[in-house]
Amino acid sequence: MFDAGRIGGRRAEGRGGGPLAAIVRPTGFVAEQVRRWAILPGMTDQAPPDRDTDRDTDPDGHHLGIDPSWRPATLAVHGGMAPDELTGAVAPPIYQTSTFMQDAVGQPRGGWEYARTGNPTRARLEASVAALEGAAHGLAFASGSATTAAIAALALPGEEVLLSDDLYGGTFRLFERVLRDMGVTARYLDMAADDSALAKALTDRTRLVWLETPSNPHLEIIDIAAVAAQVGRHVGARGERPILVCDNTFASPMSQQPLGLGADIVFHSATKYLAGHSDTICGALATSRDDLFERLKFLQNAIGAVPGPFDCFLVLRGIRTLELRVERHSANAMAVAQALTARDDVAVLNYPGVVDGRHAHPQAALAARQMRHSGGMISFEPAARDGRSPEERARRFCEGTRIFALAESLGGVESLLEVPATMTHGAVAGSQLDVSPALVRLSVGIEDPADLIADVLQALDRA
Ligand SMILES: Cc1ncc(COP(=O)(O)O)c(C=O)c1O
Repeated sequence: MFDAGRIGGRRAEGRGGGPLAAIVRPTGFVAEQVRRWAILPGMTDQAPPDRDTDRDTDPDGHHLGIDPSWRPATLAVHGGMAPDELTGAVAPPIYQTSTFMQDAVGQPRGGWEYARTGNPTRARLEASVAALEGAAHGLAFASGSATTAAIAALALPGEEVLLSDDLYGGTFRLFERVLRDMGVTARYLDMAADDSALAKALTDRTRLVWLETPSNPHLEIIDIAAVAAQVGRHVGARGERPILVCDNTFASPMSQQPLGLGADIVFHSATKYLAGHSDTICGALATSRDDLFERLKFLQNAIGAVPGPFDCFLVLRGIRTLELRVERHSANAMAVAQALTARDDVAVLNYPGVVDGRHAHPQAALAARQMRHSGGMISFEPAARDGRSPEERARRFCEGTRIFALAESLGGVESLLEVPATMTHGAVAGSQLDVSPALVRLSVGIEDPADLIADVLQALDRA
């Protein structure tokens, strides 16, 4: 599963023993520090005697703290989080540096050269995300959108990308207003409700098939394994099987691991559940395909949209509590969704955990099969009432909550809400992906569920 050897800076070639000794002759305290540094991973060709090199150390010796047999909650706490080799610090060091001194020309120490290419704090995050997704490789980017752009660059002019037709507005914007002008075309298909849509749309130009499940903002669920089977039977662009990409932002790896269901690349806006505290912008992907990893790592370095080490630290810190948070987000969202189903002034409710009644989710059975948790995201449309239109009530509702803050984004510990048509999905206005102006999206936080329900109900009453 996890090939730690691929994570981190490029492998250093031709290291001789004791390169530091050749350039410094320290004494006293400094000598002691250098001696300790000299047994740091990657500094010598010989493993320190007291280290278990088989379990969680890559060939360069980067000590990543991962045992792939661990379960998700353990991987979340320990993946990429081994105590600092130098000091034993249990929190990951933030390597706030742009470059690394080399021991000789062409001999970067431990493989670290330049921080766009690789940074130890980022390597820990990349290792953590790979471990959580059950992948061989991970890569981190400056944002979810930068991750999207790097993956989209796997398609060349003349090739085509088939995407699910309910997705983040910024993904649509990138494909329609950046990539289309560069000769990469995109088509959007209902892969949630129509099993045959993909089979009919695949051509010999198809390079990528792109899913978002659960989708933003309608919480549609797509059968990843079924799509993977269809993609696997098809010969697309370059005479190859198309690459299956899954945006796992809404589910998080605690709920769903698309690679295990046949996807080739899984990615996240790490800004959301992975970071979990609405305090940083970041993105990450994972893949087990060596060929895709090599190309994407090249693109990461060539395009250069990498996260800073402090942002990586924040996401790593968030990931440690991911299991607990996702459980609580899901339980709270289920409670809020149930409170909404009991209201006769709610016209539409989208939540994958609602299995029966007027608002039963059409793919509830698939969601239960494919996801461990039904997630923290809900969307709904109020019904018209007291002479007010659904759109007007949606706006009044969003302006009338006291705990739910009116803000874009999702996945943080605090509850947020928004009107996608005018906020996160402004870019899809007037397109095939158009969103009703009456739709409200809730990101249910980890507060006390009774307070959240009371807040939603009082805002609905007043809307
Ligand atoms: C599902 C999904 N994917 C990707 C993105 C883009 O992520 P970022 O805002 O980190 O660029 C978002 C942002 O809201 C999103 O919701």
